[in-house]
Amino acid sequence: MCGIVGILGTKPVALDLVDALRRLEYRGYDSAGIATVENGRLGRRRAEGKLRNLEHRLVEEPLKGHVGIGHTRWATHGRPTERNAHPHMSPRVSVVHNGIIENFRELREALTAKGHVFETETDTEAVVHLITHEMDKGLGPVDAVKATLKQLEGAFALAIIFAGQDNLMMAARLGSPLVIGHGEGEMYLGSDAIALAPFTDTVTYLEEGDFAVLSHNGAQVFDKSGAPVERNAVKSQANALLVDKGNHRHFMAKEIHEQPEVISHTLAHYLDMADGTVRIPDVGIDLATIPRVTISACGTAYYAGLVGKYWIERFARVPVEIDIASELRYREAPLPPGGLAIFVSQSGETADTLATLRYCKENGQRIASVVNVRTSTIARESDVVLPTLAGPEIGVASTKAFTCQLTALACFALALGRARGAIDEATERALVKELMEVPRQIANQLTDESQYEALAHQLMKSRDVLYLGRGQSYPLAMEGALKLKEISYLHAEGYAAGELKHGPIALIDEIVPVIVVAPVDALFDKTVSNMQEVAARGGQIVMISNADENSAGCQLAAHIAMPTAHDFTNPIVYAVPIQLIAYHTAVQMGTDVDQPRNLAKSVTVE
Ligand code: M6R
Repeated sequence: MCGIVGILGTKPVALDLVDALRRLEYRGYDSAGIATVENGRLGRRRAEGKLRNLEHRLVEEPLKGHVGIGHTRWATHGRPTERNAHPHMSPRVSVVHNGIIENFRELREALTAKGHVFETETDTEAVVHLITHEMDKGLGPVDAVKATLKQLEGAFALAIIFAGQDNLMMAARLGSPLVIGHGEGEMYLGSDAIALAPFTDTVTYLEEGDFAVLSHNGAQVFDKSGAPVERNAVKSQANALLVDKGNHRHFMAKEIHEQPEVISHTLAHYLDMADGTVRIPDVGIDLATIPRVTISACGTAYYAGLVGKYWIERFARVPVEIDIASELRYREAPLPPGGLAIFVSQSGETADTLATLRYCKENGQRIASVVNVRTSTIARESDVVLPTLAGPEIGVASTKAFTCQLTALACFALALGRARGAIDEATERALVKELMEVPRQIANQLTDESQYEALAHQLMKSRDVLYLGRGQSYPLAMEGALKLKEISYLHAEGYAAGELKHGPIALIDEIVPVIVVAPVDALFDKTVSNMQEVAARGGQIVMISNADENSAGCQLAAHIAMPTAHDFTNPIVYAVPIQLIAYHTAVQMGTDVDQPRNLAKSVTVE
């Protein structure tokens, strides 16, 4: 998944393209590039690595064209080198692409046989050669692109400019998001509306299979059959201000510290605070009779969904099936008629989650989504949106989006429980009261992080780290391990504490840290037994708990003292220490905390 932009402007566009790309770096940052049409010829600048490298390049070798396209890359086909960086071009056409051209090998072989010489390892280059080939046969640019689109298989968003054409840009969307921006005598393209926010708030979302022809006068949109269609322009809510780090060293730190506020915003959306009750939007089916809930998501959002399963089963007494989106979509899971499927996604663009949503829709499920970006594809394709009000999350490691997802799911579980008569009004009010305590409980944890710095100093020397948790704390153990892996590059695994003795215990020796998420709840004594099994083998136990350190009944390497929360809200409150452990470890290891290697914020490929 990559970020693409295009500007059909009235003045040099290179710097505006870079500005727009900066807003899309969350989609990938392996390389970046732009191309413009200048004096009828295509010119291009590309650089390996972050966008700042491209900016330096442009200072040395500026581009002056008034029409241009840009790209920030997350490598799929071909290493993240300058040669493989977009835009790709021939003397006639230049293309930026987000997605995967699945039949690129066949296309490449056929075009090579016709004399085309490929310079890169990318799938995208096949698109350049195809358009060029069609133009060489005598087609004009628009017809050449139309002919090319018919030959492409896979998922793509494309922006295309042509030599000799400074009043033409083309766009196409199939499986990857693309939005057109309308300016005063200028037109824009972007992977999302945030990229275009400094230029315009009037946008048109292309739909699946659409392609568009842009000129200074506007955009003509065609559907997948080639028929002209009207796609409404809407006002975008995207904020033109690039969020900054405030007085924090990293976006991740800022986002961890924003949690009390954004959880409050999310609670305010779902709770009638005065009445002490939950209110959720109408999901369009009778919640009292749904036979099953299916939850699907990826990564951190999946772990939020897993906590949601515990809550929904406990408070609403309805069976919940949950699976990782990339698995559910391919295993042809039977789904009960009239079921409710819930998709959890910060970006609302994750390809596997979106594909699974479509599978569930085709199989008769009512679709609800817990999303942070309300204009996203997942939100737009859902019957009902349960928003998280986390605000823009820039750090690749999800933090505030996770706790807001948990907050929204907690509210939904209570609403479902009430609708089904599984909890009474008094219980609802008591649990709402507990939810309202969460922002303060989290704020109190964020006043002093010195113990995390000390712990990080020890963890950074580890080879492997284990995380354990039981019940609702099990997803947190997995989330803790994911967080540590993705930003510190240390190997970590999260296990259900009861599973330890079935294999992972073999890993434990005197140098393996075992981080145990152990709130005092109905399962605490069992978790204590598991800690003792670790201690007996010399493992270094870090206990995160509101119990005092003597309750572990064994020697602890560290004890992170937690406030006492209700066992219902513990997963939200205990998310914070696992975030801080990962953050401080990564800082001490000197990794790129906000943009860790090989990752991207929004994963729009399978
Ligand atoms: O945008 P989504 O919530 O759908 O993204 C899902 C995962 O890619 C995401 O949570 C990922 O696991 C994070 N980098 C974890 O911190």
